[in-house]
Amino acid sequence: MNSENRLLDWYRAVVDYYRRLTPRSAALFVRGGGVLPGGDTRYSITTRPHPTYFERGEGPYVWDVDGNRRLDLNNNSTALVHGHAHPEIVAALRAQAGSGTAWGGHNPTEVDWAGIICERVPSIERVRFANSGTEANMHMLKVARAYTGRDLVLKLDGAYHGTYDGFEFATEGDGGVSPSTGGVPANLSENVVLGAWGDTEGVARLIRERAGRLAAVILTPFRSAGGFSHPPEGFLETLRAVTADEGVLLLFDEVISLRLAMGGAQDRYGVTPDMTALGKLVGGGLPVGAFGGRADIMAVTDPLGDMKVALAGTFNANPMTAAAGVAALRLLTPEVYGWIDHLGGLLRAGLSGAVRDRGLPLRVEGGGSLLSVACEPGVVRPEVMMTGLSLALGNRGVFGFPFLSTSSAMEERHVEQMLDVAAAVLDDLASSMRVH
Ligand SMILES: Cc1ncc(COP(=O)(O)O)c(C=O)c1O
Repeated sequence: MNSENRLLDWYRAVVDYYRRLTPRSAALFVRGGGVLPGGDTRYSITTRPHPTYFERGEGPYVWDVDGNRRLDLNNNSTALVHGHAHPEIVAALRAQAGSGTAWGGHNPTEVDWAGIICERVPSIERVRFANSGTEANMHMLKVARAYTGRDLVLKLDGAYHGTYDGFEFATEGDGGVSPSTGGVPANLSENVVLGAWGDTEGVARLIRERAGRLAAVILTPFRSAGGFSHPPEGFLETLRAVTADEGVLLLFDEVISLRLAMGGAQDRYGVTPDMTALGKLVGGGLPVGAFGGRADIMAVTDPLGDMKVALAGTFNANPMTAAAGVAALRLLTPEVYGWIDHLGGLLRAGLSGAVRDRGLPLRVEGGGSLLSVACEPGVVRPEVMMTGLSLALGNRGVFGFPFLSTSSAMEERHVEQMLDVAAAVLDDLASSMRVH
């Protein structure tokens, strides 16, 4: 039997076991398929043969509807930096819910929340709230356009900034720019310039060439699409210098990378952009987005001043998210950053070693509390290997592969649990790939 067939055999066995463990999830998926397209409302988390339906989370664990407990290393796509149902966040939410969940007026907690963000994130002198990272990036770009009076934006190929059509573009085969998803008008590509991650000279040249029409350059300073990694030496510094020279705004999407330091990747790398988008962890587990920057730039959103961009939102800075956000940020001290980074380091070292020892074609990357696993180029049936690994780890009680993050609810024994499970799963995979 050749190695591809053996891989498929391994995958089928993993899927069979998953089906046996998750009959209630399977039934929900069938019901869901009658009312949600493909039973789905968030394509990035769905999986074959059916997704897992969870009903409870506590600390570092989640329980699915079939009663299976899993160590959660997904943490809702990195957002739950304190794990599930942290008592202080729950208390803040209970107190707020008892006083009402939202009203068409300001609330005091939003001022505290904004104050914490402005104090921590170097580029943010003024901040505004939204309800998702997508919205934060969308508003940030509008503000950059209104402030500069220019339309073009330079983004990096493959970078994900949420599901806003201003950013949903990728490189065509001939080097042109085309929508990366349906529903995005092709003519919007006229406003988009694509650069490549780490191509310092190439991106600097594009900025200089388009400077007169370029409003902004946006990037995730810590690479997050396709695999987590630190930027190459000098990349951010050069982009900072060239954009400043050319009067182009530098925008950091720190929706994920606020995990790297109190002030985000900009704090960690010492490169301050003009504006920053946040999301995920700043909401303490509730839906959130936020963006901010220099006071003179953010002034274009000031409804009592010279407002150029009118930004509303029924649930912006709603008291529930604000309460959870304040509680989560207050819990996120330098010591806590140190702890989640320590656990992340143990996890990366352990997993890299496990992959290396077995000679598997997998790449383990990341930094701080973040870690990603991807197939090396040239792997036959990479989707089978990645889905199989995710299900196989889940079958043995670990959820979240291949984008993993640690949380303050975790202890070293949880990392050890993950590494024990990973060793068993990788042994199975390695033996399935050996040609007998
Ligand atoms: C870097 C980055 N920006 C923006 C977003 C979009 O955030 P949201 O899903 O809250 O719209 C994400 C989501 O994964 C992200 O990873």
